[in-house]
Amino acid sequence: MTPMSSTATRTSHELDVYGKRGVTLVRGSGAQLWDDTGREYIDCMSAHGAAILGHAHPQVAEALERQARTLTSCPGSFYHPGKDKLIERLAERCPGDLDRVFLCNSGTEAVEAAIKFARASTGRPGIVAAKRGFHGRTFGAMSASFNPKHHELYAPIVPGTRFIAFNDTAALEDVLEDDVAMLLLELVQGEGGVHVAEPSFILRAQELCRERGILLVIDEVQTGFGRTGGWFACSRYGLSPDILCLAKGIAGGFPMGAVVVNDKVRVEVGMHGSTFGGNPLACAVANTVFDVLESEGFLESVAEKGRYLKEQLRAIDSEAILEVRGRGLMVGIALKQKARPYLEALAEQGVLALTAGPKVLRLLPPLVITEKELEQVVTTLDDVLPH
Ligand SMILES: Cc1ncc(COP(=O)(O)O)c(C=O)c1O
Repeated sequence: MTPMSSTATRTSHELDVYGKRGVTLVRGSGAQLWDDTGREYIDCMSAHGAAILGHAHPQVAEALERQARTLTSCPGSFYHPGKDKLIERLAERCPGDLDRVFLCNSGTEAVEAAIKFARASTGRPGIVAAKRGFHGRTFGAMSASFNPKHHELYAPIVPGTRFIAFNDTAALEDVLEDDVAMLLLELVQGEGGVHVAEPSFILRAQELCRERGILLVIDEVQTGFGRTGGWFACSRYGLSPDILCLAKGIAGGFPMGAVVVNDKVRVEVGMHGSTFGGNPLACAVANTVFDVLESEGFLESVAEKGRYLKEQLRAIDSEAILEVRGRGLMVGIALKQKARPYLEALAEQGVLALTAGPKVLRLLPPLVITEKELEQVVTTLDDVLPH
């Protein structure tokens, strides 16, 4: 299908840090998106994993409208019923003994707060993270993200940051020295290629952190809120981190992040803050996300759709596919060759997907995607990939 020409004016004044995809999106509904020429797409990006309830969800629209007519901002030094309700729900839902919450506006801010809290609580400088990991773009989070190009470009990175190979249990013993404040890990590395953590690696990491007074910080910015078919990926491992970083799905695409900590973490008045954190509009959407995720059968249906998608993808008979991997509706298709041309071919045929590194196609559909839409995604991939 040849794209029709765009009717919208495209600005040339935006700093181009993303590399544009050449599409102007104007409308969405569920897992469907439309561009300005009226062309329809199935969304397998959900705004980098954030729009878990898809687009224009009626409950979200209603919650936003109600809140917009009531109170749209509330400083952090005041209580607000929507914020209090959300914080209670987070404290209740988060794994283990995590029960104190700081609300911010993005994933990188959640990681940044975790770094500050960990250093202050332990009095140690060291940050250990994993190769291929991604935690955000502000200075601390960027330093803990494994991107040698960025580390060189923005040198020097935060001192005390070092990396181990993901899933290398033996390496943990040596790297977790007594100057280390925190070990920061994803449970499924999202940007780094959709690599799933081995339970033996994660559980040994938790054990060593406890023995050595190091805080275990789990970054569930991408995996949290149903993405992997349960509330949090932590539960699958029976993991009880000291700090949990959340964002993306927490408010279904509305800007919000959260850090949830246990009582090993020392946070006092004046140590941190955020002008917009806990904004009533964001809290209203986040409470709606909780309502939907708590509704009967919702998370089970996500797990089921994830199984279906992986099974169907594995049945594609293409010489280009090396492996299909992931958890729930976070799926990576590892290819023998560069993924980018397939991304473009998919968009041409009405499916918007992502990459995760140069040779992995990544599917992060809204959790409300239907089985029929997933079937369409698989058929399109089958068409696009070489046989
Ligand atoms: C695991 C993980 N942590 C942190 C971030 C940063 O989140 P944000 O873009 O909201 O700052 C991302 C974003 O992709 C992520 O995948």
